[in-house]
Parts: sequence; C-alpha cells; structure tokens
Amino acid sequence: MSAAGYLRYGRHLVGFATRVGAGWLRATVRGRRSTFDAWRYVPDLLENLGPGFVKMGQLASTRRDLLGERPRAALRRLRDDCRPLPAEHVRRNVERVRPDPPTEPVLPLGFGSIAGVYLARFPDEPLAVKVRRPTVSDRLRFDADNARRAARAVAILPPARHLPVREMVDFLATAAEMQVDLGREGRNLIELRRTLAHLPVRLPRARPELSEGDRLVMEYLPAFAAADGPIRDGTTSAIRLLEAVFTMIFRSGFVHLDMHSGNFAWDPDGTLNIVDAGFAVQLSDRTRRQFSEFFIGLSFGNGRRSADSVLRSAVTLPESLDREAFTAEISHLIHAHRRLPARDFRVGAFTAELFAIQRRHGVFISSEFAAPVLALLTIEEQVRDWAPDLDFQVVAQAIILASIALIPCGPE
Ligand SMILES: Nc1ncnc2c1ncn2[C@@H]1O[C@H](COP(=O)(O)OP(=O)(O)O)[C@@H](O)[C@H]1O
Ligand SMILES: [Mg+2]
Repeated sequence: MSAAGYLRYGRHLVGFATRVGAGWLRATVRGRRSTFDAWRYVPDLLENLGPGFVKMGQLASTRRDLLGERPRAALRRLRDDCRPLPAEHVRRNVERVRPDPPTEPVLPLGFGSIAGVYLARFPDEPLAVKVRRPTVSDRLRFDADNARRAARAVAILPPARHLPVREMVDFLATAAEMQVDLGREGRNLIELRRTLAHLPVRLPRARPELSEGDRLVMEYLPAFAAADGPIRDGTTSAIRLLEAVFTMIFRSGFVHLDMHSGNFAWDPDGTLNIVDAGFAVQLSDRTRRQFSEFFIGLSFGNGRRSADSVLRSAVTLPESLDREAFTAEISHLIHAHRRLPARDFRVGAFTAELFAIQRRHGVFISSEFAAPVLALLTIEEQVRDWAPDLDFQVVAQAIILASIALIPCGPE
C-alpha cells in the first residue's frame, strides 16, 4: 500500500491545487475574486485522501477556535453527507439481511467516513443497515500509520518534548482503526445502551444475528431523518449531551469518541439519539479514578487534590520533582478555571496549559487521558452554542460523586 498510497496522496493534492487554481482564475476573470472560496474544494480533497482525513475534517468542523465560519460550513458536510457507496456493493449486502425482500426501495440515511447507512423496510419492522465502504480497512490503516509517523516527527520538536504525543496518537489511531470492525461496533452499541439506560438517551439495538462482515444491522432511529438542531431549549439539550458524555467517562469509562453532530439527533420528546459507536475506548479503572479526582479538584477549587491526581496518574516522575512548586502551578490553573460558564472555558487551552505545567516538571501521564479530552473537545462548541451560561463542571460533579465510589480499587 505504501508507495501506491503516497502516489495517491500526491495525485489528489495535485488535482486539488489544479481545481483551486482554475476556480480562482475563473473568479478573477469574472471579477468575483472576493467571493472565491478555496474551502469549497477541501471536503472533496479529504474524501479523496482517505477516511482518516475525513475524521480530522469532521473534528475540525466542530472547532470554532481553529477555523472561521466558512471553513466550518464547508467541512460540516463530512459529518453525514460523504460520498455514496457503489450501488452493487450495497445491493449485495442489503439482499442478505433477511430471506424476504424489503417492501419498499432501500433508502440511504447518511454517509460517513467508514460506511453508508440504509433504511430497509421489511413487512414487520424497519431496519437500519450499515454497510462498510469496500476499501476502507486498508485506507484507514494507511492513514493511521501516517498519523503515527507524523506524531513521531512532531514528538522531537521542543514544544512536544516530554509530552506523550506518540503514545496519545497511537492510542487514538488504534481506536480509529478498530472502527472498521462492524461486529465490534455492534458490541459497543450493546455496552453503551447498558451504560446509558437510566438516561433519556437512545442507541439503536444491534441485531448481531442479521449482521456479518461488511454490514451491521440495527434498529432504525427515525430521529435522524428529522431536521437538525435541539428540540427543546438549548440548556436542556446541552445538559443531556453532557450527561451522556460524562456518564460514559466517569461511570463506565467506556467512551464514544465520535460525538459530533452527525452522530446524534433528537426525538420530539427530547430523547437524545446516538449512533456510530465504532470509535470508542475502554478506560482503565486507574485512569477513570484519577480523571474523576482531577475533575473534583477542579470543580470544588481544590488544586492540591487535582495536582495529587496528576502525580498519581503519572507513568514516570523525575527524582528531582519539586512537589510543592508543581502543586502551586496546578492550583493556580485550577483557580483560574474553576466553575466557569461554557462561554469562558476552553477545553483545548486548559489542556494545553495543564500539559505545559507537566512538561516543565517532567511529569508524564498515561496516553489514555487523550480519550476523555477528545470526547470533550468534540462536544464543547455545541454546548457553548446551546448554553453559553452553563457551568458544565456542575453537571459533571453529580455524575462523578455518584460513580466514584463504585470504581474498583487497584494498584496505583
Ligand atoms: N440506526 C440508525 N437509524 C437511522 N439513521 C442512522 C442510523 N445509524 C446511522 N444513521 C445515519 O447514517 C449516518 C452515517 O452512519 P454512521 O454510523 O455515522 O457512519 P460512519 O461511521 O461512516 O460515520 C449517520 O450520521 C446518521 O445520519
Ligand atoms: Mg458517523
């Protein structure tokens, strides 16, 4: 794959440059250069480059701190409106779901980076059939390997030194690669349904007896056919979304890492519907306990407790560590960010500062911490949009306090 893969990258980059150049010339000739928008071509480029790039585009489309309105609007399409799959591949997979044919023509419901999902109406039940893209496994593996290579290069640069950049990228790349296993996605759905059963949240019931290889069959959720956006007031929606994510992080440690808006939708009664559970990880009890402790320290303004949890989650501590200086710096950070409304709290900036303190003191933490941070990064803009005044640390407090006593104790 590798030489051919790089050639393919090169070919698509050249094609992209040519299309952008031609578009720019056309706009210039027509005197409309000011309205020319090169971002219009980027989603196509990312789809051509591969599923790993589409994933990055989906995540980037949620980040107002990185990108302006135009790029985010262009990239938004990648969340659930990627290219269709070859018709023959879809027909073959849908035909094998049941011996009897669907009563109506099969309808496409959405197209993501990995798969297309189709509605097949059978006489007794409608089913959603997720069909994997034909060459996606090899392409995702190639993209993930390149992400690992890029991380190795970045890791030797001074700002990244003493950060587990390689380990974190490897941890996330491995989780991303596993998404192509639709059998695993089906098991993840079962696990998440159990974790979130007490909340007003719905995940499709997987149908393993009808699934195999390239297809996952599950319950059809009509919420995804409705218009986008929160059904009730923004604050209620934001709290529901946060409760679901915090429950995954703190109660079970089994975390859906792909909670962008293409993967959730609302029922008219305000029930949150979640799909696409392939990109998910199980945190160790140790990471879950230390992350819980850190968050309690943050939300109650107890910097010493947060500092202590970082030190206890460290993989290695330098012999010369100045604990008091470390604790003082963490306390300062905690006090500056304690109980801020969503409009003022930035997960990315906060994490970067936290890492900088760790780096200065030579403290290495487990790469698993990348998972809860990524989950929160993916939803934070959405929460901020819906409920800028919401203090999400309070939403987390209740869930952590109800869960922390249940985390099994293990070796530190
Ligand atoms: N069970 C379902 N019922 C209704 N629509 C669904 C269901 N599962 C997925 N979809 C729709 O199909 C889209 C693509 O499915 P998804 O599982 O997200 O694929 P990918 O892993 O490629 O992103 C989703 O964004 C959603 O709009
Ligand atoms: Mg999706």
